[in-house]
Formats: sequence, structure tokens, C-alpha cells
Amino acid sequence: MVATVDRLFVHCRQLVTLTEGPATGPRRGEAMRRLGVVEDGAVAVRGGRVVATGPTHQLRGEYRAQAELDLSGFVVLPGFVDCHTHPAFAATREQEFHMRCAGADYMAIAQAGGGILSSMRAVRAASLADLTDAVERHLWGFAAHGTTTIECKSGYGLSLADEEKSLRALQAAAARAPLTTKRTFLGAHEFPPEFRADRDGYVRLLCEQMIPQLAPLADYCDVFAEPGVFDRAQSQRVLAAAKAAGLRLRVHADEIQPMGGAELAVALGAASADHLGRISDLGIERLAASDTVGVLLPGTIFFLGKPHYAPARRMIDAGCAVALATDFNPGSCYTQSMTLIQTIACTQLKMTAEEVITAATINPAFSLQLDAEVGTLHPGKRADLCVLDIPSWQAIGYAFGGNPVAMTVKDGVPIVANVTERDPDWFAERP
Ligand code: NIG
Ligand code: FE
Repeated sequence: MVATVDRLFVHCRQLVTLTEGPATGPRRGEAMRRLGVVEDGAVAVRGGRVVATGPTHQLRGEYRAQAELDLSGFVVLPGFVDCHTHPAFAATREQEFHMRCAGADYMAIAQAGGGILSSMRAVRAASLADLTDAVERHLWGFAAHGTTTIECKSGYGLSLADEEKSLRALQAAAARAPLTTKRTFLGAHEFPPEFRADRDGYVRLLCEQMIPQLAPLADYCDVFAEPGVFDRAQSQRVLAAAKAAGLRLRVHADEIQPMGGAELAVALGAASADHLGRISDLGIERLAASDTVGVLLPGTIFFLGKPHYAPARRMIDAGCAVALATDFNPGSCYTQSMTLIQTIACTQLKMTAEEVITAATINPAFSLQLDAEVGTLHPGKRADLCVLDIPSWQAIGYAFGGNPVAMTVKDGVPIVANVTERDPDWFAERP
């Protein structure tokens, strides 16, 4: 019997399904290199969900579609999952970029009142409506780069009222853009000026007021655990309070100087430990034996011009579940492009094309507890697609400096098309 579906996406030059592994759970080691590639592939969609994937001729025989969308010439992947971003900011910081290019150090700029505190001043001065508009613009920017699921952090308010404003802006913007989003409270991003001389006082404010009151607005809590920012004991207190308030944990760990951050994240059962440029051998061992995902952010190291990329090869070979993310923020990494991050991961972290695809889809989805929903094209998951204008999946990472995303599909519906001559055709079906 021929079943009816809403839409068939047909003639993908190559369709990367990631269905050769289990639908859910993290992928490690060898499993990170199993993609599942269908030549002349098709995706059948009903109710915004994947019904089936397979060769075009086969799916055309099995399904009658109300609409067909021809993707010939394109490589199609599951939509990207960007599991570490900071989009709740109100102003860019290109002056600092030029100071760094002239030799200034990122942490030195921060200690002189620039950096995160400069973003804090702009967020405190912004209205909820303006901040919401800014976040919405950023979300569409991610969509234009093939991202369909995204984690968004607060962290430039640094007071109860301004962190609440940031989380509400993230929530309101998410309601206006079609991406799947998760929110993270990052009040522990820096010490605000009014607490510079009373750091313990800010940790108490975080634990006793901000976390309990703002927990309902967030899914996760994160801490910038770094010498000179939140030390180990302070990070631990914040994360323990967050856990008690029902939040799951993510940690900015071992970014610039080693601090045992990965070990701390694993000990607390965090969903992810992020950055890891200075992860220790013990940290790698602990991560590999846990379900805490190691989220690597090589765009930040690249953009800061630092030498210490995370030891991705050793981590993958040790069995860590590794993900990649942009770390999009106004200071240390101003890009929304997961494909650029994949290029840096291939060239600097020595990850393979298969690994950077897995690290941009199912592994970050697992870190966001969305692996049953997104990250692969198993039947039942959301029909989120990233349509790339590249000759083969091996050209992931290879084609860099432009945006290779031709189209982004969310829940079975095209939401962005970057190839204008095909637009009328592509959007003919748009509801
Ligand atoms: O992940 N490390 C802390 N937070 C951001 C940078 C924030 C900023 O400079 O505004 C990061 O790199
Ligand atoms: Fe970050």
C-alpha cells in the first residue's frame, strides 16, 4: 500500500542520515565515523517529522506526497545542533578585537573592565524589547548557517533583574523564530562591578536568590570556571545550588588555564564540559567514563589567536563523546557558522569529516537531552535538514570562508534559502 505524506525531499546528491547507529545516545570513537550516506536520497515527511529516508526511486514507490521538493545537486545533513552560544547581548565589541590584534590579551582586557563587563553595561542599558529583537536577529543568522537547534546562554546581565531580562529575551525571541531552543542561566559568567570587592557576596546572591528565582526560566546552569573568574570552590557552590533548584549543568571548563574543570563537571553529573583547551589527562579519563559531553569550541581559540586547541584526537580515541559548537558571543568568537567551526576542527583539531558531522548533530543533541528529537534522520524525529551546496560530504570542512548552506529546513518546512535563483520554486509550498 502506498502511504500519503506531506512532502518528499528528493534527489539529494547525498543524504547523510546518521541512521547507521542508534537513534539516541552519544557516539564515541569508531561510532563517530559511521554516517549512513544515501546516494540520490530522499526524505519523507509527515506532520513535521521524518517518516522514512532512502533512495529517491524507492521512497517514490512507497509514498504519495502532497508536495515534492527537488534538492538535486545538494548534500543534505540533519540540521546542525549548536549547543553553546551567548546570543543575549546588545552591542558588538570590535574595538577589543582590534586591541587584541595589536597585542592586547583577552583576560587583561577583561580585568581592565572591558570584555564581559562591557557587554554587561550594554545589556543593562537595553530594554527587554530591544534585547529580544537582537536575539531574534541572531537566531535567524544561525538558521541561515544551517543550525536548527540551539542552546542559548544569558550571562551579560549579572544582576537578578538583568539576568531575568536576558532569559526572558531568549524565551520571547525563541517564540518568534522557528528553531528548537534550550536556555542556560549563566549569571556566573563574571563578577559585576558592585561585587568586585565582595566576590563571596555575589556567589551568595547567585545561590540564594538568582538561581532559585530564575530556575523556572532556564533548562541549564553554566559557570565560567576559570582561575581569576569563578574558582573551583565558587563554581562548585553555584553548580550545587543549580542542581538543587532542578537545573541541569554545563560548565565552561579548562578554557584558558587548567583548573580540573572537566573533572568537576563529571563529578557533578553535568550534561557538558565546554572549551577544554587545557583539559588534563585525568579530565580526559573521567570524561570518557561518563555521559558528560566534551563540547569543543575551536572557533574561540582561533579568534583569540591562542595556541592551545583542545586535544580532540586524544579525547575521541579515549572514548569521550565529543561535540562542536560555535560559542557565538561578542567577545571571543563572533561567528554563527557551524561549517566554519568544522573547518577549524578538521585543520587544527585533526578531526575527520565524519567526526565533525557527528559532533555537530547527534552528540550535541544528546548534550541537550534532545537526542530523541533531533540530531539524526531516524523516523519519528523532527525533519530538520541542512542543505549544502558542496560536491560531496567529504567537502564538509573543505569549502570554507563562505556559507555553503543553500537551504535550511525546520520541522519539514524550508525556513531559509540562500540560493536565490531557486527560491520561488523552493518556497512554493511554504504554508
Ligand atoms: O565562552 N569564556 C567565557 N565566555 C565566553 C566569552 C564571553 C565574552 O568575551 O563575552 C566564551 O568564550
Ligand atoms: Fe562560552
